[in-house]
Amino acid sequence: MTFYLCTTLLIELMMTAMIVHVFFYSGLKANQKSWFLLIFVSIMVCAMAEYTIHCGVYKPSWAIPLSVFTTIQFAVAPMLGAYFSGALGLSRAARCFGVIFLLHYVFEIVASPFGLVFYFTDEGFSHGKYFFIYEAFYMASLIYMNISMIIASNRFRQRDFGTIFMVLVILVAGVLPMTHYKLYVSYLAISICACLCYIYYNDLIQQDIQAQFAANQKKVNNMQVHIISGLANLIENRDTETGEHITRTSAYVKLLADCARKDGVYTDIINDHFIELLYTLAPLHDIGKIVVSDQILKKPGKLTPEEFDEMKKHSAVGGDVVRDVLNGIADEEYISFASDIAMYHHEKWDGNGYPNNLKGEDIPLSARIMAVADVFDALISKRCY
Ligand SMILES: [Fe+2]
Repeated sequence: MTFYLCTTLLIELMMTAMIVHVFFYSGLKANQKSWFLLIFVSIMVCAMAEYTIHCGVYKPSWAIPLSVFTTIQFAVAPMLGAYFSGALGLSRAARCFGVIFLLHYVFEIVASPFGLVFYFTDEGFSHGKYFFIYEAFYMASLIYMNISMIIASNRFRQRDFGTIFMVLVILVAGVLPMTHYKLYVSYLAISICACLCYIYYNDLIQQDIQAQFAANQKKVNNMQVHIISGLANLIENRDTETGEHITRTSAYVKLLADCARKDGVYTDIINDHFIELLYTLAPLHDIGKIVVSDQILKKPGKLTPEEFDEMKKHSAVGGDVVRDVLNGIADEEYISFASDIAMYHHEKWDGNGYPNNLKGEDIPLSARIMAVADVFDALISKRCY
């Protein structure tokens, strides 16, 4: 009995280690944890019942409650397996898993009255003649689930071997008492292993998806910043007299927004995200100058009224150009923010600006900040117009 006690204790310890791990480190949702707890408790109850029998304190009157406990365990294990295979998106695997367990139930129901699977005696319950078929269903479903999971995860990594090693230890610990004492702890171990495998792989796959998403997001953000700085450079190189205008105005808008936030102005709009967008997209404010001819853009003297009207077009056009350029590589919030800056940075508080003669707070805050930076820079530098 010492050998039995040791192996049982090993199983219990490993199971406890795994449940602690799943509960505190797996990142499973609360409902997933409830399912896990349900199967864990039912398996523990069954394991204790079995343990009681094999310690020699079994009473025939316990036959019915023990059968109920065993049935609960048989019912909950496949439910949980199917649930997690579904959670993994393995709908086909979940169906096959269900079919295997259905066959297993059919076999159990048909064979049990004849004592072919297991039967109760005055001394306890024992294996029937075809108990191995019953066990084979568990093994088949376990193997099937593992293959499905490996296919789903699409690769093997070092950490997967850790999980499999833990599962194997439980399996071996479960099978050993069977060979020595003809006890059938193995099916408990197999059931819990199957469920734990699903939980672990579910967790690993979720982590993978999150890491991949974060990496892609970073790539997209870098791409946006590169495209914007490339465009800004093109504008700046063409409009040579603006010099470092783009670099300076970007710094001013950031400074203005930071100060406004510190002073408690527009704190409902100005946050870190707003400031980052403003700083990143400010270089595009004069992108509409792409439609203004070199003759006007580089004219050294004062512009005629007609030429100035032509120059004024750059703001209205800028909004559309930004949309055309960023469409498909940025989301709507990003595009709208850039478009507002390009289109409304020449509007004035009193409504005398262009292109839409917007007044006061009708002008987007981003464009108002851009306007202040733009005018300030024009006043302290030499500009054509
Ligand atoms: Fe402008």
